[in-house]
Amino acid sequence: MSGANQREFVSVCEVGPRDGLQNERVHLALEDKSQLVAGLVKAGLRKIEIGSFVSPKAVPAMADTDALTTRVKRTYGTGIRTLGLVVNAQGFDRALAAGVDGVCIVTVVSDTLCQKNNRCSSQQATDTAVALIKRAKESGLSTRVDVATSWVCPYEGQVPLDAVQRVADQVWEYQPDELAFCDSIGHAHPYQVAKLFAAFGERYDRSRLVAHFHDTQALGLANATAALFQGIRRFDASVGGLGGCPFAPGAKGNLATEDLVHLCHLSGFETGVQLDDLWATVALLEQQIGRPLGGQSRSWFHSTQRTQHN
Ligand code: COA
Ligand code: ZN
Repeated sequence: MSGANQREFVSVCEVGPRDGLQNERVHLALEDKSQLVAGLVKAGLRKIEIGSFVSPKAVPAMADTDALTTRVKRTYGTGIRTLGLVVNAQGFDRALAAGVDGVCIVTVVSDTLCQKNNRCSSQQATDTAVALIKRAKESGLSTRVDVATSWVCPYEGQVPLDAVQRVADQVWEYQPDELAFCDSIGHAHPYQVAKLFAAFGERYDRSRLVAHFHDTQALGLANATAALFQGIRRFDASVGGLGGCPFAPGAKGNLATEDLVHLCHLSGFETGVQLDDLWATVALLEQQIGRPLGGQSRSWFHSTQRTQHN
């Protein structure tokens, strides 16, 4: 039985080139990143967080995001939407010059992680986010705000819903195209996820909310399911389950794109993603990174039974 109404669409934003690669010991060369993006595009992913425009001293793996963006836009034009992560005006200027289609502006609910990640308080990061939404709109870029530690902070523990709301309210007033709630270290559980999206789906515009999960406790799919049941139709995921944050200890891989896509297809949603091509891209990434990758569905996907049920 299908769970979705009439082939409803779930929008998957591929964050592998950013959240996936930012914490890897192996830094992919520009050519390898371009090949990775080519594989993602071939698999049908049309919205790709291409990298971050942050200090190369803070995150060396993202130093070539400008060059990658320019190259990808030259290759695919309007065929895909590129998003670039920014935390300050300097990064915004770089993203604009490189030609991204949209920016993901990060603020953090908990002060301790915000100080480590953004080097400022949560309020200052939120004020910056508001200023950058305005600039992005003036520049014709799509706008998204990532609200980090929406459930749990690696330093402060559980983050109260009203603290998340305080940040989200300030940002929502300036109408970003999307508002993403991020389980930055993968410590949220499905009941918390359902509670947040039940509340915020009413308060904001449910169709513009995004769910971002990590699979640290193998709850990525369960959390995605909870969000789906709350009517959330926009998700982040990372090819092969790659991912982590250099400033958030304990953050393991993101929810794997192949797991999310598989869940959506089984549940009757469309994603526009072809799983076989996606697995070919996981295989490419494994070669590039030099270790086995792949989400929870890996062993099933490679098993012989798959052909009987697929
Ligand atoms: N792009 C390139 N360089 C940048 C930059 C950006 N967006 N923002 C700051 N810098 C550089 C400055 O030019 C300066 O360089 P210098 O030492 O050669 O003069 C240096 O970083 C310090 O600048 P300052 O404005 O004092 O920044 P900061 O020390 O307050 O740190 C951050 C600013 C937050 C931008 C930086 O720590 C950072 O980029 N962190 C990474 C956050 C991240 O990617 N987290 C994971 C994803 S959420
Ligand atoms: Zn993340």
